[in-house]
Amino acid sequence: MSWLAIDQGTTSTRAILVDAAGTARRLGSWTHARSHPSPGRVEHDPRELLAHVARGIEAGRAAGARGWALANQGESCLAWDAATGEPVSPVIVWQDARTAADCARLEREGAAPLVAERAGLPLDPYFSAAKLGWILREIPRAAELAARGRLRMGTTDAFFRDRLTGRFETDLATASRTSLMHLATGRWDPDLCSLFGVPIGALPAITPVSGDLGAAAGLPLGAAIADQQAALYGHGCRSPGAAKITFGTGAFALALAGDRPPAAGTGPLPTVAWAEAGAAPVYALEGGVYAAAAALDWARGLGLFDDFAALEAAPPGSRLERGLAFVPALAGLACPHWDRGARGAWLGLTLETGAADMMQALLEGIAYRTAEVLARMPVTGPVAIDGGLSRSPRFCRLLADILRRPVRVAEEAERTALGLAMLAAETAGAHVALPAGGQMIEPDPDWPDLEDRFARARALAQARWM
Ligand code: G3P
Repeated sequence: MSWLAIDQGTTSTRAILVDAAGTARRLGSWTHARSHPSPGRVEHDPRELLAHVARGIEAGRAAGARGWALANQGESCLAWDAATGEPVSPVIVWQDARTAADCARLEREGAAPLVAERAGLPLDPYFSAAKLGWILREIPRAAELAARGRLRMGTTDAFFRDRLTGRFETDLATASRTSLMHLATGRWDPDLCSLFGVPIGALPAITPVSGDLGAAAGLPLGAAIADQQAALYGHGCRSPGAAKITFGTGAFALALAGDRPPAAGTGPLPTVAWAEAGAAPVYALEGGVYAAAAALDWARGLGLFDDFAALEAAPPGSRLERGLAFVPALAGLACPHWDRGARGAWLGLTLETGAADMMQALLEGIAYRTAEVLARMPVTGPVAIDGGLSRSPRFCRLLADILRRPVRVAEEAERTALGLAMLAAETAGAHVALPAGGQMIEPDPDWPDLEDRFARARALAQARWM
């Protein structure tokens, strides 16, 4: 018996078949266009994403999957016509910063305490609320449909579920990333909706992350959840303090918190980890680094290195100790700085600096930024990691040294898919096993103490030198 996991991510849509032993087999992977119509703006074409999800479902059906599950990008969102299902906006991607001025205005108007108290989140363009408000304000067709009660708005999962299962729904974990949901009640909050200018009636119904969620092309949808939460589940994190970091486009750390919403602060964000059908919600703390693989792709695009094998070949050792620092603030800084104005920075270049040094400093910079996030989380034990960068032995070693704690590298990089398959199987009364193993990397106790030096470099990346 096997389950189809569709992981609709920022750079691609992956269809993965997972069997009862937890073995994953990739059925297909489709990259989509990412457009940057102007600085700070990042968009996808909703039709292209929908076509890829539908292709994935077809591949799963052909491979004999019993059911499917969907992971989404989290905060990326759009609007569409309730009558025709046609999008009236692009997907505005979580990375998109077009609403920075709106968030700054709300901050000046004193809205931050209300948003923190209800949604548990800071005012930042990352979250869907300001993006949805922007759509309604800036796209005349959206306003026109809203006036006629025909507008639908939501995160990408709500669009896919509406179009593919005929049910206009999202899940509690994803809804907790919008900044429109009251974290303690699990309902859309009318005050937050009016603050951001989002009509509450245009939003989807909120469901648990698993259960009977309808069917697409005859295949039952047994689970739908934000991708980071799916990975947390797929790593087997079940007790408070258990944590994972997924290194995708960005790096996202989640630590399980328990059955009460953690207090909001300026550090990691309280969020719903999952809420299974018939069970109470489980909460987590989340902290993100906006650019991880995105920083590597950028460096490769510049010609700093050709292939990932080159990363492993660079002479080891800390470049920061030798005075070379890289701050991966290429898309601003998220947790705990929440500074969209920060910029990426190389510091300490000399005539001797080579491409290999710059690459090592880049990997180190990603690891130090991740450590800044993790230091603010109540993590117990080793940290489980997955995603593209977890395939680099060099990076995994650096991470363990810099975090100063053991890192468990998942053998199976597709932990999001595994989490999805486990949830979908539970819905059907079946079971997908959590594969044991993974390599444990212990930190080197002699790694130099350089946190303060990195913090100084990071502070320069936040300086408004322009
Ligand atoms: O919060 C955004 C994050 O979940 C996106 O993940 O894998 O699509 O880069 P990914």
